Amino acid sequence: MIYNFIHIIHIYSVFIYGGFLFVDIFFLSKMKKSLSEHEHKVAREAIMKHVRKVVPYALLVAVASGLFMVFQVFGKISEEGMSSFQMILSLKVFLGLWLGFRGINQKFFGIQPWVFKHHVFPFSLVVVIIFLSQAMYF
Ligand code: HEM
Repeated sequence: MIYNFIHIIHIYSVFIYGGFLFVDIFFLSKMKKSLSEHEHKVAREAIMKHVRKVVPYALLVAVASGLFMVFQVFGKISEEGMSSFQMILSLKVFLGLWLGFRGINQKFFGIQPWVFKHHVFPFSLVVVIIFLSQAMYF
């Protein structure tokens, strides 16, 4: 029962995190075309000050709920080595933890990403991770 509850929390937190990245990349970034630099700066900050209260925490919840689940579903590695489920899940966990590490550095330590500073990178990872989350059951 608790696993299913955490699983649902995982999906909703990913929905919020990925949802913001989608809106930012495909809609908010377009404001530049119709606003002056100053207007764009003011308008973006008027949105981002609310985003910062929710989205980084949604990422943390996604990582924490994922960490809980991974220890439940990963299973033992057989003598023949990792199964395809375990290999794909490991890749998903690595990419998810990378996003989590970036998010924690940015939010709590003010350390900006060293590489891939634009939101296109985390969004691309979210798209890959969602695919992997289904591919691991193929
Ligand atoms: C922040 C990026 C992440 C995204 C976008 C993401 C996305 C998803 C999605 C869409 C599912 C599939 C849900 C379903 O089909 O029912 C899932 C399942 C899962 N995720 Fe994540 N996840 C992320 C991070 C993590 C992390 C960091 C971990 C582990 C450390 C993790 C561990 C898992 C596990 C174990 C499952 C399988 C649950 C199951 O099928 O029972 N996820 N994730």
